[in-house]
Amino acid sequence: MRMYDLIEKKKHGKEMSREEIGWMIRGFTCGEIPDYQMSAMLMAICLKGMSDGETTCLTMEMAHSGDVADLSAISGIKVDKHSTGGVGDKTSLVIGPLAASLGVKIAKMSGRGLGHTGGTLDKLESIPGLTTSIDKQRFADIVNETGIAIIGQTGNMVPADKKLYALRDVTATVDSIPLIASSIMSKKLAAGSDAIVLDVKTGSGAFMKTLEDSIALAGSMVSIGTGAGRNCCALITEMDVPLGRAIGNALEVAEAVETLQNRGPEDLTEVCVSLASNMLHMAGKGGIEECRQMALEALADGRGLDVLASMVKAQGGDERYIYDPSLFAPAPYEREVRAPRSGYIDSVDTTGCGIASAMLGAGRATKEDVIDPSAGICLRRKYGDRVSEGDVLAVLYASDPARFDGAERIFLDSYRIGDAPALPKKLIYARVTKDGVERF
Ligand code: URA
Repeated sequence: MRMYDLIEKKKHGKEMSREEIGWMIRGFTCGEIPDYQMSAMLMAICLKGMSDGETTCLTMEMAHSGDVADLSAISGIKVDKHSTGGVGDKTSLVIGPLAASLGVKIAKMSGRGLGHTGGTLDKLESIPGLTTSIDKQRFADIVNETGIAIIGQTGNMVPADKKLYALRDVTATVDSIPLIASSIMSKKLAAGSDAIVLDVKTGSGAFMKTLEDSIALAGSMVSIGTGAGRNCCALITEMDVPLGRAIGNALEVAEAVETLQNRGPEDLTEVCVSLASNMLHMAGKGGIEECRQMALEALADGRGLDVLASMVKAQGGDERYIYDPSLFAPAPYEREVRAPRSGYIDSVDTTGCGIASAMLGAGRATKEDVIDPSAGICLRRKYGDRVSEGDVLAVLYASDPARFDGAERIFLDSYRIGDAPALPKKLIYARVTKDGVERF
């Protein structure tokens, strides 16, 4: 086989065989196929797409390109959740403990933030002492004891995705449904849980900007997961506006705690309850409405908070920060951002908010950058709010005041204030299962 011929084939929109895809992924992972040929293939896939069969083959080859997790030492049904990434998205810190408090096991491997999106590992590591590098046996023990552990990817898992993602990042080939679906699902399948709930974000802060593209991505991932024998469903959720009010690592942990105490922002609470209900449902705990009631009851009595505190302690962290987030060292500097005019906030560029937060120190521009856990943004006004000129829209936090000017400019550019009241937005647009799409 020659990579040249496969590129030629895909360039003309033809379907590759299982053998060809397997040969290509093995050859690229071990370094026999060079980056320049794989870049050409990625661009051809972006432009010509892939059939469902090709996307499934690609995913399975990637999933088995390295180590695959064995969760057999963990008792019970293991459920994973994955978000396609957003701004202010701290749902894993809420729904993981919530679902675990209701008898579901969460053995979760999470990622770090890059660019404008945050990552669960960075958020957790703002808790003093907590480690996300834990060996296999200890990981299983913590999940068996507390119901949940959240760690970084261990060993040599899905090396094909690591190489492909790095190449896609620099060749403008990220925004392709088969490439995103195979990237996410290869990691989810290799992570080994029995059931998977996907949170596919849609809107200005998401990879998929339109609802129809988001539904197509969700459909592709659900069909891959189901085909691989996992219970799998997806919710399409709003990312046209940051989720909740906190953006930034320690700020988001504090907001997750408030949400587990049932006093979190309404939008975050609703998305968490919907995702948690689906996790319980996928784990066979009951019908979707029954599972929603279970999630609401657990939120009302705050039992998820004790689970989060136990997990933090087991992972070496100081659980006092969970019971009292005011212990987090505040950023030494803060700046209020004020409304330049009166009116209604009728559009928010969520990516802009994420970039502003990263510029304050909450994110990385390169993998080597060091995160400042105290940096970030607290939104005081959000989409739809009426504001008067001079009202505080948000408070920016940083350890270096030189970061404020650039971040404030980007933040203000991302908030548009108009004269007419903004149209209400939905939080959950659709649910995608193996049986089809249910729109809300
Ligand atoms: N997240 C991933 O893991 N992969 C993608 O391609 C996009 C988002």
